[in-house]
Amino acid sequence: MSISLTRYLVEQQRAKGRIPSELRLLLEVVARACKSISHAVNKGALGDVLGTAGSENVQGEVQKKLDIIANDVLIEANEWGGHLAAMASEEMDSIHIVPNRYPQGEYLLMFDPLDGSSNIDVNVSIGTIFSVLKKVDPSKGVSEEDFLQPGTQQVAAGYCVYGPQTTLVLTVGDGVSMFTLDREQGSFVLTQENVKIPADTKEFAINMSNMRHWDEPVKRYIDECLQGEEGPRGKNFNMRWIASMVADVHRILTRGGVFMYPWDKREPGKPGKLRLMYEANPMSWLVEQAGGASTNGHQRILDIQPTQLHERVSVILGSKNEVERVTSYHAKA
Ligand code: AHG
Ligand code: MN
Ligand code: MN
Repeated sequence: MSISLTRYLVEQQRAKGRIPSELRLLLEVVARACKSISHAVNKGALGDVLGTAGSENVQGEVQKKLDIIANDVLIEANEWGGHLAAMASEEMDSIHIVPNRYPQGEYLLMFDPLDGSSNIDVNVSIGTIFSVLKKVDPSKGVSEEDFLQPGTQQVAAGYCVYGPQTTLVLTVGDGVSMFTLDREQGSFVLTQENVKIPADTKEFAINMSNMRHWDEPVKRYIDECLQGEEGPRGKNFNMRWIASMVADVHRILTRGGVFMYPWDKREPGKPGKLRLMYEANPMSWLVEQAGGASTNGHQRILDIQPTQLHERVSVILGSKNEVERVTSYHAKA
């Protein structure tokens, strides 16, 4: 018997009281938006969704048409339901408060509408990443301040990967579940529960072209992996780098591994490339919920107190023993 996302959420709510109805509605709406983005992605050139939009986002990155399409789909889907107070996105300068014509709820939704933008035009897996928080003070109006909560405060997080299959991966703090989009039925169907990342791995993911810019602890770790059987690790490592965090994290949730986008000397003033609120926090929570670990080399990512909406962070996540090893190299340095 197949279990749809709707049924899964209803049963979770009934059995564990984990998902209040407003949050359930929110998750259903996000899933529906992801379904619609998945259709746009699949149309590709036929839907005129490839190529650049001719604009830049607040972080100075060139926006692809699909970055904007995905952002608009998520905003439109989520603003009228009454479950949200505001949204924040990698592609918008400031927060999007639910317009006055709709009721305001107490949840806050953050997203990277389209992750892996450089892969859109070359037909490689991309995705959507999302994170949900609750307004701290429901009696007050919503502001950017409300979003500046550490990742430990997330009430739901997930991503949808648009690859050979469209898969939605979700946590509400009770483990990680995966749902595959059934295109005939038009619904997400539960295909894996209790996802677990093995503590050990022989696979790492990092953009090796940045090697000369890395810090010593990262150099040391990768160098030891590269020495293989003859080196201090006594085993051969394999490397993967998809350049879509969603796809790299999905592989790690499926078969283990370690993913790193560390700080590097290219832009020493920036703590890293990836964004804390839209990428690092949701992925870190999913990884921890699956038994893995996630740090910035010095501290658990979920414990970081954000000071800015578009804050960046160094990311090391995946199989627990490897993440602990890289983190310990930072402590010794
Ligand atoms: P986005 O497309 O949302 O800007 O994110 C891309 C991110 C992440 O998905 C990926 O791991 C990384 O950037 C790839 O960066 P490089 O091109 O520097 O390898
Ligand atoms: Mn991204
Ligand atoms: Mn993006």
